[in-house]
Amino acid sequence: MCHNSGPDRRTVTALLAAGLGLAALTACTPDDPKVTGAATGSASMTGSPTVSSSPTVSSSPTAAARQPAPSPAKGALPPSASLAKQHSLTDPRSPWVVVNKHRPLTPLQFAPPDLVQPAVQLATSGESALLNSTTAAAAGKLFAAAAAEGVTLTLASGYRSFQTQTATYNGYVNTRGRASADTASARPGFSEHQTGWAFDIGDGGGACSFQPCFAEQPAAVWVKANAHKYGFVVRYPWMLHGTTGYYYEPWHLRYLGPEAAGDMAKRGITTVEEYFGLEAAPGYR
Ligand code: DAL
Ligand code: ZN
Repeated sequence: MCHNSGPDRRTVTALLAAGLGLAALTACTPDDPKVTGAATGSASMTGSPTVSSSPTVSSSPTAAARQPAPSPAKGALPPSASLAKQHSLTDPRSPWVVVNKHRPLTPLQFAPPDLVQPAVQLATSGESALLNSTTAAAAGKLFAAAAAEGVTLTLASGYRSFQTQTATYNGYVNTRGRASADTASARPGFSEHQTGWAFDIGDGGGACSFQPCFAEQPAAVWVKANAHKYGFVVRYPWMLHGTTGYYYEPWHLRYLGPEAAGDMAKRGITTVEEYFGLEAAPGYR
């Protein structure tokens, strides 16, 4: 859902000063899919992690692609040096799977085998109210911790099937054109929402839902500071669209597990591309 209420002047000024332009000001994530029922499907193993340490910048003509891609942190060690357990970066059933504009899901129409509805405050229904079972359990803890500190979180958009993402993305293309659509919505087979490891939050209010001003709401401020304790990262950070391919989405959380998310927070690394030593993915190849 894209509400008409715009960002405040400070946000607008900051965005324009940063050269992001109107695309960033209007970027949002679509409303809940109108699909009901849990999707089913089989997962398949897709081989061992692929790790590259040489970032490359796509020649895609999107605004995001024109931004310089930050280099990986100097001297950053991959998580293998500090974490006890390793996970695949390519298997969509892995909490470390990296999905971006260079890394589609394999298989492209993957559907998580263990979708469940988390015990959290819902602002959506149908398949959009589902997450994979690990993420759902972690979301329950995250939302409860926020509530205990007086902050309301709602689940605004969770799982999206390949079919739903197709309809969502095509809707964006039809209303904005392909270049603008690619700054806000993943193409089918390229969305973290299809993995069950990611979801968008609301705050029970709605005025800033999926808008830049959500970044200043208590829900977004709280998750930015605390999500890592429960295994989540804010997947598309401010000004790192040259790496992630998307403008700031303070509402989009991704589960990696408390170890990796805590390791990233401790080391000040904010994108999974940098953390896992993968190339930047500003645009589709
Ligand atoms: N809005 C995010 C990038 C998605 O469509 O998956
Ligand atoms: Zn999202």
